Amino acid sequence: MLRAGLLYLSEQPSIFRFIRSNALAKKLSSRFVAGETLDTAVSAVKELNAQGITASLDLLGESVHSAEAARAAAGTATLMLDRIAALKLKANISVKLTQFGLDADPKLCAENLHRLLDRGRELGIFVRIDMESTEYTQRTLELFSTDLRPAYGDGVGVVIQSMLRRSKVDVEQLVASQARVRLCKGAYQEPPTVAFPDKRDVDRSYSELMEMLLERGNYPGIATHDEALIARAKGFAKDHAIGRERFEFQMLYGVRRDLQQRLVREGYHVRVYVPFGTQWYPYLMRRLAERPANIAFILGNVLKEGVRS
Ligand code: FDA
Repeated sequence: MLRAGLLYLSEQPSIFRFIRSNALAKKLSSRFVAGETLDTAVSAVKELNAQGITASLDLLGESVHSAEAARAAAGTATLMLDRIAALKLKANISVKLTQFGLDADPKLCAENLHRLLDRGRELGIFVRIDMESTEYTQRTLELFSTDLRPAYGDGVGVVIQSMLRRSKVDVEQLVASQARVRLCKGAYQEPPTVAFPDKRDVDRSYSELMEMLLERGNYPGIATHDEALIARAKGFAKDHAIGRERFEFQMLYGVRRDLQQRLVREGYHVRVYVPFGTQWYPYLMRRLAERPANIAFILGNVLKEGVRS
């Protein structure tokens, strides 16, 4: 119930307008969001790199409805690539199709993406297309497989959500074409017709898809904080002689930092997804929905810091 409520609130722009002007809410967001500017995000990436962790920079913002806003988002994403190259950061970037104008004008979205991917290719920086709600799954995979992957090869990758019933077929196809895949559980509220309603099925599906990707995929990103699944990935890789250089673990900024560092110490590749920007509200609400205990946890930290300062 609470999860559904938080996910519903994540889609209410009027609440975001109210929340954004609230200093406490901004402070809450800093646990999961690396600031509102590219400079603050770059500082976070430098800190991660110093710990042996690579990053995926993400400009927050989705469901853009005007061509102008879509072009602006694509322009900022290009600046992100330039900054990564100029500072020699160990980072790539993640983008969302609705942020690049998929709802406003699919042709414009594809043009924006091509411009970005051209720049990524020039600089040798990988671009990941995040996966949004199921309204966009088919269009995202189609654009990826028929246009982006043929044009940019391993310079571009996509995301699969284990909560979706269709994902096994999708992974089979992506593995066959050796596409670059990040596997996650899925962060959106979906109906049982398309997604497993029971968390145990989502986890079972994750295990199965993860093993397919580890065994036959092309440098998959195992994106989860679930310790049981991480242990399973390590065991599967060991049993099948899959070297640590053939995959990476991925986690979110501010989530299980202890586990991120432990994996690095054990010699695994770890990448952290670093979101930044002014449009942090839907992202923050999805993180709270994943673990409602975060609300108390973050509030507790903010209060402690408030008492100290
Ligand atoms: P699960 O939710 O079962 O959590 C397992 C454990 O991890 C929890 O018990 C807790 O300890 C810890 N944990 C998880 N979330 C936490 C949180 N918010 N705060 C504190 N602890 C937490 N989704 C999507 O739909 N499209 C996408 O493109 C992406 N991209 C993406 C990239 C990366 C790098 C990651 C790590 C995740 C995504 N996701 C995503 C989000 C993903 O779908 C999922 O919602 C979250 O990763 C949470 O799921 P877990 O796999 O961690 O498992």
